[in-house]
Amino acid sequence: MSGSPETGYVLKRFRPIMPAFDALQEESRLEGYWMLVRLADGWAGGRNKFLKRGEALFGAWHGPELAGVCGLNIDPYFGGMRHGRVRHLFVSARHRRNGLGRVLVETVIDRARQYFTVLNTRAPKEAFGFYERLGFQPVAGEEFVTHRMIFGKGG
Ligand SMILES: CC(C)(COP(=O)(O)OP(=O)(O)OC[C@H]1O[C@@H](n2cnc3c(N)ncnc32)[C@H](O)[C@@H]1OP(=O)(O)O)[C@@H](O)C(=O)NCCC(=O)NCCS
Repeated sequence: MSGSPETGYVLKRFRPIMPAFDALQEESRLEGYWMLVRLADGWAGGRNKFLKRGEALFGAWHGPELAGVCGLNIDPYFGGMRHGRVRHLFVSARHRRNGLGRVLVETVIDRARQYFTVLNTRAPKEAFGFYERLGFQPVAGEEFVTHRMIFGKGG
């Protein structure tokens, strides 16, 4: 789908059913994160296959290795189809601070602005700075949203 010759990462739509995904899922679980386990469960159970309007699941490949994952869903915590949600973002520890999280989320943002009026996420505290760096606004007092990007007219 899109390549990045500077860093050697290649982003593609993907299905989380191959050994490269299993390896990344295992790494995330050992680190105490559950987003890729939930991604695999939702896929296997047929609850979330990123098939609704605007939805997509992206993987970032570094050679044969899956280095990062990020999904875009219709936000299940809001009614209607106008809210998008960043889901299941995870970058392998050895690829962090290399611009890959930015490339993944900016790919999701570019797509989300074509389909949704806002893009929500619920981030762990340690990722707040990351989302704010990318232009998300912190949100207070909402159970399911810590950060939001509102797509303005023409932007
Ligand atoms: C959060 C995460 C996706 C960031 O990925 P990454 O590839 O390291 O991020 P990048 O290198 O693209 O960083 C993009 C920008 O955010 C900044 N940044 C990255 N991580 C940050 C952090 N933890 N705190 C503050 N700023 C951060 C970078 O300095 C960079 O700034 P710049 O582009 O202006 O120089 C990654 O650390 C991760 O997968 N963490 C574990 C899982 C997790 O928290 N997922 C989020 C679930 S919502």
